[in-house]
Amino acid sequence: MAGAIKVEHVPVMKNEIGLGLEIVKNGIYLDCTIGEGGHALHLLQSKNSPKQVLGIDLDKFILKTTKERLENYKDKVCLSHGNFANLKTIIGKMGYEKVNGVLFDLGLSSFQIEKPDRGFSFSKTEKLDMRFNTNQIIDAEKIVNNYPESNLREIILKFGEEPRANKIAKSIVQNRPIKDTYTLSKIIIKAIGKQNNRKGIHPATKSFQAIRIEVNKEFQNIQEGLNQAMDVLEKSGRLAVISYHSLEDRIVKNILRNASKQCVCPDQIPECICEHKASMKVISNKIIKPTESEIKENPRSRSAKLRLAEKL
Ligand SMILES: C[S@@+](CC[C@H](N)C(=O)[O-])C[C@H]1O[C@@H](n2cnc3c(N)ncnc32)[C@H](O)[C@@H]1O
Repeated sequence: MAGAIKVEHVPVMKNEIGLGLEIVKNGIYLDCTIGEGGHALHLLQSKNSPKQVLGIDLDKFILKTTKERLENYKDKVCLSHGNFANLKTIIGKMGYEKVNGVLFDLGLSSFQIEKPDRGFSFSKTEKLDMRFNTNQIIDAEKIVNNYPESNLREIILKFGEEPRANKIAKSIVQNRPIKDTYTLSKIIIKAIGKQNNRKGIHPATKSFQAIRIEVNKEFQNIQEGLNQAMDVLEKSGRLAVISYHSLEDRIVKNILRNASKQCVCPDQIPECICEHKASMKVISNKIIKPTESEIKENPRSRSAKLRLAEKL
């Protein structure tokens, strides 16, 4: 029964999502990262409870929890194990072409961090994995042990914004084979020192983030997913995206900004030749952040940034 299952993940900014999506009664809503169903449940329990919530997640294990958690709404919920980069095809198979709202809650679920053996956490000794989709062949162990040093350096610099990527990549290559998360974190600490930076984050945080992004091709998926999401939205339908680090947010901001422009010609071109038309309206140029009290109750929400846009 829904009451008996153990749910790990607390949905971030659920009230802001409920308001931001401007739920219409009998609407169809697509949750591209349904995770443990926290946001979906909030939408289903809202005054204007949707007619259908379509949920996608790359993690087939998490979907078991989602199914149980949303059991009371089973007639209104349709779940699919898949990648939101293929969302058009996925909702097509569910029998839908258009939806009234789309949500992306990017990043990791607490389910993935807390469950042993997923290899996302450097504070435990786990096999180097980091895959959202466990059917995928490439995992963190393959990347850490097989990528050339120059590739590792580039990934850690670009996806982790880690200025000491050079030292870290060199040390990884010198210490191969590396089999578990704890050993990798020790190698990183040895390469760059134990000293925390200004924000007090663990020295391995940025490198782990970078490897995870590479394992799951996260940035390609976000770009493709957002473009498809804007296509499947009905007129006046809302798009809500929560991101958890600046690189992710920059991708979201640029895609939405571009979609809201009437012209995307380079500045030096005197007359418009692009024939681009605005398809979205950005709801607020200011990012929406969790309140102090939410951060206090759920510290994992502290880095969340919400952006909203509406289909024209
Ligand atoms: C922050 S959690 C979502 C939590 C959810 N909103 C809730 O309230 O329970 C992010 C989820 O996105 C999933 N995910 C990440 N990349 C994905 C992708 N490309 N396609 C589908 N799901 C993805 C992860 O597996 C994870 O379950």
